[in-house]
Amino acid sequence: MNIKKKVLVTGGAGFIGSHVVRLFVRKYPDYEIHNLDALTYAGNLENLTDIENEPNYRFIKGDITDQPFIQELFEVHRFDAVIHLAAESHVDRSITDPLAFVKTNVIGTMILLNAFKSCWEDSFEKKRFYHISTDEVYGTLGHTGLFTEKTSYNPNSPYSASKASSDHFVRAYGETYGLPYVISNCSNNYGQNQFPEKLIPLFINNIIHNKPLPVYGDGNYTRDWLYVKDHAIAIDTVFHKGVIGETYNIGGFNEWKNIDLVKLLCQQMDEKLNREKGSSEALITFVKDRPGHDLRYAIDASKIKNELGWKPSVTFEEGLGKTIDWYLNNESWLSNVTSGTYKSYYKKQYG
Ligand code: NAD
Ligand code: DAU
Repeated sequence: MNIKKKVLVTGGAGFIGSHVVRLFVRKYPDYEIHNLDALTYAGNLENLTDIENEPNYRFIKGDITDQPFIQELFEVHRFDAVIHLAAESHVDRSITDPLAFVKTNVIGTMILLNAFKSCWEDSFEKKRFYHISTDEVYGTLGHTGLFTEKTSYNPNSPYSASKASSDHFVRAYGETYGLPYVISNCSNNYGQNQFPEKLIPLFINNIIHNKPLPVYGDGNYTRDWLYVKDHAIAIDTVFHKGVIGETYNIGGFNEWKNIDLVKLLCQQMDEKLNREKGSSEALITFVKDRPGHDLRYAIDASKIKNELGWKPSVTFEEGLGKTIDWYLNNESWLSNVTSGTYKSYYKKQYG
């Protein structure tokens, strides 16, 4: 097989990264997909057992903040393209340990940019650095309006500030050095393999174990939810068709208030677990709010839809059903990731 492209995916053992790696390994047998991941608490090679022996797939354990290691990795492999997902990704953790977010999300991104630049600066032709970002960089919306690619950055949490900073550096490398980048900013993802610190998998796990469902504040916060496999398809689309120097917003056209989403989840869980109607809802407990909690995120995804032809394929009810089924059928995955350090995180966060 003639190798057409060497692609480095960072953070490929994480939630979204593992779906991207699988899609690329299967869809592009003539690409060599290198998955670089430090395997933090959020990285899990169990997410990729079905493709780990594919001839076009390689796993590299390594840290994007290790500058000499990253520099050498690029010198040895000379990757044609990078899809950069590695990050500290959980807002609550960024509130307790902001520096870890600066280190990975800002410094780590800088180190990758420098390595990519020094590899190709003689000619960036046919090269591409694709930076995966979040809608949280835009800050919060009021009760109306949508984030467009022109909305100014106004991050409110250490996580979103670190992602905003990394976006700025990527753009600055484009302007200053001509580095060929593309960025996408996506809304909240859900689906299989998401670590149970985020709302949906945390609540699924708690319902299974009849534990309280800690809704922050009054629950009247709104997020725009996208099924993770649709995000992976969007990333494939932007990677191949996105215009260099452009940003694309990706969203589900699917806004939910947390409390309404949690009630829908409870209903579906009761049905699937054959529990009495209302028994999961009885677990809802309103707890102290998240500091700096953004009221509402909602994405205008018309640019990627109209210019690149992508739109979500899965309805929320369908995607949520598939997600619940996956967690119920993969209880060993869930118990593996919730043993050990997860317990001390949970105690610290929720008491
Ligand atoms: P995740 O936390 O599930 O996975 C992150 C991965 O990065 C893990 O495998 C982890 O081991 C790896 N990693 C962390 N630090 C590293 C380091 N220093 N070196 C190498 N690898 C490291 O995150 P996710 O939810 O899959 O998010 C992936 C990307 O998408 C992030 O950049 C995030 O900001 C962005 N994003 C996430 C969402 C969402 O809803 N989850 C939405 C929009 C954008
Ligand atoms: O918008 C994209 C972002 O979505 C990504 O960039 C982040 O990586 C990802 O973590 C996610 O951020 P959120 O903070 O929106 O996701 P989270 O699942 O933590 O919370 C979703 C909503 O649910 C939010 O309003 C806070 C609330 N929540 C969350 C948890 C964990 C609760 O009410 N209780 C909880 O225990």
